[in-house]
Amino acid sequence: MSDQLIKVPADWAKSAYVDDAKYTEMYEQSIKDPVGFWAEHGKRVDWIKPYTKVKDVSYNQRDLHIRWFEDGTLNACYNCVDRHVKDKGDEVAIIWEGDDPSVDQTITYTQLHHHVQRFANVLKDQGVKKGDRVTIYMPMIPEAAYAMLACARIGAVHSVVFGGFSPDALAGRIQDCDSRFVITSDEGVRGGRPIPLKENTDDALDSCPDVESVIVVEHTGGAVTMKEGRDVWYHEVAGRVDHECPCEEMNAEDPLFILYTSGSTGKPKGVLHTTGGYLVYASMTHQYVFDYKPGDIYWCTADVGWVTGHSYILYGPLANGATTLMFEGVPTYPDSSRCWQVCDKHNVNIFYTAPTAIRALMREGDEPVKKTSRKSLRLLGSVGEPINPEAWLWYHKVVGDERCPIVDTWWQTETGGILISPLPGATDLKPGSATRPFFGVEPVLVDNDGHPLHGATSGNLCIADSWPGQMRTVYGDHKRFFETYFSQFKGKYFSGDGCRRDEDGYYWITGRVDDVLNVSGHRMGTAEIESALVAHEKVAEAAVVGYPHDIKGQGIYAYVTLKQGQDPSDDLKKELVQWVRKEIGPIASPDLLQWAPGLPKTRSGKIMRRILRKIAEDDFSNLGDTSTLADPGVVDDLIDNRQNLG
Ligand code: WT7
Repeated sequence: MSDQLIKVPADWAKSAYVDDAKYTEMYEQSIKDPVGFWAEHGKRVDWIKPYTKVKDVSYNQRDLHIRWFEDGTLNACYNCVDRHVKDKGDEVAIIWEGDDPSVDQTITYTQLHHHVQRFANVLKDQGVKKGDRVTIYMPMIPEAAYAMLACARIGAVHSVVFGGFSPDALAGRIQDCDSRFVITSDEGVRGGRPIPLKENTDDALDSCPDVESVIVVEHTGGAVTMKEGRDVWYHEVAGRVDHECPCEEMNAEDPLFILYTSGSTGKPKGVLHTTGGYLVYASMTHQYVFDYKPGDIYWCTADVGWVTGHSYILYGPLANGATTLMFEGVPTYPDSSRCWQVCDKHNVNIFYTAPTAIRALMREGDEPVKKTSRKSLRLLGSVGEPINPEAWLWYHKVVGDERCPIVDTWWQTETGGILISPLPGATDLKPGSATRPFFGVEPVLVDNDGHPLHGATSGNLCIADSWPGQMRTVYGDHKRFFETYFSQFKGKYFSGDGCRRDEDGYYWITGRVDDVLNVSGHRMGTAEIESALVAHEKVAEAAVVGYPHDIKGQGIYAYVTLKQGQDPSDDLKKELVQWVRKEIGPIASPDLLQWAPGLPKTRSGKIMRRILRKIAEDDFSNLGDTSTLADPGVVDDLIDNRQNLG
């Protein structure tokens, strides 16, 4: 089934920016002459001072640096807002669809320009200066976009923290980048339920004494407490500031934003993206991968708390002068027709979502889809995790009525934009494959010793050379940047993903090869969840692995060893799951928790996760060599307990 080939429709090959021949020509040029290629395409954004240097990159340990367009200057907000005002000021920049289906709003480019300038002046009023880090902990409302663009306008570095994260997770991210400013809302609403963002912020700030100012955007009107001297209402300050604010001239390599993401070890890393290369890459991929044409209504269902929201709700589409839809709610509220009703209501042409959402909707059957028209849809996209062929085919057949190509886009927080994806007018599709690399991207599969593998094969997915949207460092920890991405396989960027290349040169992402989980498209470090568990007073030790989950892709499986004298009860299980929710956020709650009298360890004390993964998968046949274990008996105990768990 997965070997099925779905040909590019003839009308797509004709009307798209790029057909197969053009793809091959542009791709070859981009690899043979990256400097010439990007010198040309870098011009797609407006520069204040044009660049003369295109690329300066070294992946060497002593001298790791990545610079694109380094002597050029520009402003990202100018490119996303101001430059469109003259010719398309009355066109819609943002369509906002509220959680409540009766509530929506459209914001034209001219209106966006006003809102963003006012927001920028509120930031200045609160003392924010160029280079300062500003933490944004917001629901999916237009003000989240204004806040991000306002930071870009004045040269402040935003760090958006997903509204589903806990106060502790928020505090850690504020502290890590020494952020003295926080923007939040009274409450968010999702699926009809309020989320106490301001209250969470207050809890977080108990451990962030350096925060000087909290700007609170009124959204639901829910009750909050305002701390005198620290907290201000956005609308009160906005009422007294100037309505004009110039754009700061930024260097191409000045930071644009920090976004925290989980790794296989330690606490989340602050992925740093800079201004010029990021914007060029986000806007170019948005145009070509989605074959975005002026006038298209484009909807990406992500949250601005993730990189998909940064690159493909905000920066890419707005840099291209597109109409981008921002959705506050969830796909299943008020019912599982919601996405398609929104498509019909706003005439959405391009729809971009995650496999976990597709699988959840597929479970509800065809009827909620079929009762809507969806005739405006032209193209569908998928992102965040491997999409299984069944879900792909359902998306294609039922949602897209077999009319709409699907772009399965592989990329990462670190990559800034899409690296492997079909181009809809150029690439024949194979359900489950992210297909071929974007311009300037040269995937290399290597074995565990770093030897490049050729032809049809499987290996660790690396990228041979830099692309403009690549992250530049881990905020405050350049050494960790080297160690995480450039130390295993010398001279290449290592993604952490496993991948297969087939006989047609198509890429099939097989999932992470490190201790990172992908739960409903959300990236979680097993180490993070383990340290949350052991922070509980009754827990001695914990090991977390992933296991296959029908809807989430991967579920979270936790093995917990209790301290001496603690009773393993069902109540304690519930308490520990709640504990992790509180420590990190609901997305990190273990799906299954098993008591482990002991964990399988080598004689040197290393936990053998391979065995734990097998047991979690309910597959006891192939446990491999257990003879190196310090105490092989623990495995039998774990298997007994697993069987009791069902
Ligand atoms: C990890 C990155 C890309 C933005 C959202 C997630 C997995 C992402 C795909 C895809 C298979 C995918 C990878 C990657 N992933 N897209 N189309 N097919 N796997 O960003 O949180 O940084 O996670 O998501 O494992 O490494 P992220």
